[in-house]
Amino acid sequence: MCAPWHFVVLLLLSGASAWPVIRPWSNGYFGYDGTLLRNNDTNRTSRVLNFFPIPVSVECPSDDGRRTGVCLNVYECRMQGGRANGPCALGFGVCCVFTATCGADIVNNMTYFVSPAFPALSRDAAVCNVQIQKVAPSVSQLRLDFVHFNLGQPNRRTGVCESDVFVMSGGVTQNLKLCGQNSGQHVYYDVENVKDPINIVINLTHNNLFRMWEIKIIQIEFTERAPAGCRQYHQGSSGIIQTMNFADNGRHLADQDYNICMRQEEGMCSIAYEPCDENSFKIGPPVLSDPGSGDGGIGDSRDCDDKIVMPCDSEEFLMPESSGPGVCDLLHCGSSFCNQGEKPCRIESSSTPFNIRVQFGPGIREESPEDNIGMCLHYEQLPCYV
Ligand SMILES: *[C@@H]1O[C@H](CO)[C@@H](O)[C@H](O)[C@H]1NC(C)=O
Ligand SMILES: *[C@@H]1O[C@H](CO)[C@@H](O)[C@H](O)[C@H]1NC(C)=O
Ligand SMILES: *[C@@H]1O[C@H](CO)[C@@H](O)[C@H](O)[C@H]1NC(C)=O
Ligand SMILES: *[C@@H]1O[C@H](CO)[C@@H](O)[C@H](O)[C@H]1NC(C)=O
Repeated sequence: MCAPWHFVVLLLLSGASAWPVIRPWSNGYFGYDGTLLRNNDTNRTSRVLNFFPIPVSVECPSDDGRRTGVCLNVYECRMQGGRANGPCALGFGVCCVFTATCGADIVNNMTYFVSPAFPALSRDAAVCNVQIQKVAPSVSQLRLDFVHFNLGQPNRRTGVCESDVFVMSGGVTQNLKLCGQNSGQHVYYDVENVKDPINIVINLTHNNLFRMWEIKIIQIEFTERAPAGCRQYHQGSSGIIQTMNFADNGRHLADQDYNICMRQEEGMCSIAYEPCDENSFKIGPPVLSDPGSGDGGIGDSRDCDDKIVMPCDSEEFLMPESSGPGVCDLLHCGSSFCNQGEKPCRIESSSTPFNIRVQFGPGIREESPEDNIGMCLHYEQLPCYV
């Protein structure tokens, strides 16, 4: 919510000795004449009293409810290149929304990177670049929320993003490369100790293909970051997880190796996964399991180039009962998340943290897209027994 009333009251009532306390909230203020009064260690008490400062980094909803902005005073919003989207802080501030498109330098937290004609579709070939500057050296991750992410599909037989491609580079880990339909997905990108700007390039190589994107980019301090190694971090005790480009006529992408992490919620000790529907696990052609063994999963799937890996408590994994239902497997690929024929399909694991690793190879083999739709799972955390 926007700045509560008591912040403003506190500012008005407090004496000069209180200034150091409020300083961390703000980058600077405007006087009534519009001049920027930067925070500084110099004395500025007398100048500071003739306006209503709004604490920065207080989120607010835009007036159409669709976006999130930062509550700023109207001058500050204009000065930083944002757009006022309705009031906040009881009318003392405006909900300032930042957007950027191709060619821009992104310098504000919580900026929406949109396609050139947004909300209309873009259909021409183009190369679109943006640079993201960290708003503070302490920023340790970027979180990208794909409100809309509609680019061209990868090669349907290999999963390689050959024509349209989104590439993010300049961070600590490998470049992030995506294409296809990823609306509703999110990613974390590690930028700890990175000083140079982070680059996003979206290459649109064909004319007459319709694309649109709207990507909310949030800069995250070290203390608020997702656990190391998690490209996706889902919060809440239940939810849906999907591989990238899980969509109608989609195909999972080649060359992916990352963790999907679920935050372990309070009082929860294990997690259960179920496919979203009967067709929501297709990672390579069906695995032929040894008809005698009855536990198709483990030995057979080790050969898969593309696979989902679930952590297992290794002791549990070695126990003979581990082939029974309800115990997690290490590797999953083929046309079924559970062992062949197991219905209903549900896998529980109490191994923490709650992570699933997605490992898709380089896309050197050609396979039918129908066998490679990817994965959609519903997860639910289960309470600890007391
Ligand atoms: C802070 O004050 C110092 C000394 O007066 C000055 O040199 C510096 O430019 C000021 N910084 C800002 C951001 O105004
Ligand atoms: C601020 O003002 C006080 C009293 O006028 C003075 O003692 C102090 O040195 C000043 N501080 C700065 C950073 O100028
Ligand atoms: C994007 O397209 C340009 C020009 O066609 C090309 O030089 C560049 O290598 C492409 N970048 C990526 C990441 O595909
Ligand atoms: C950026 O905004 C988000 C959302 O309001 C906030 O959680 C985060 O701390 C901000 N980052 C910085 C560096 O202020």
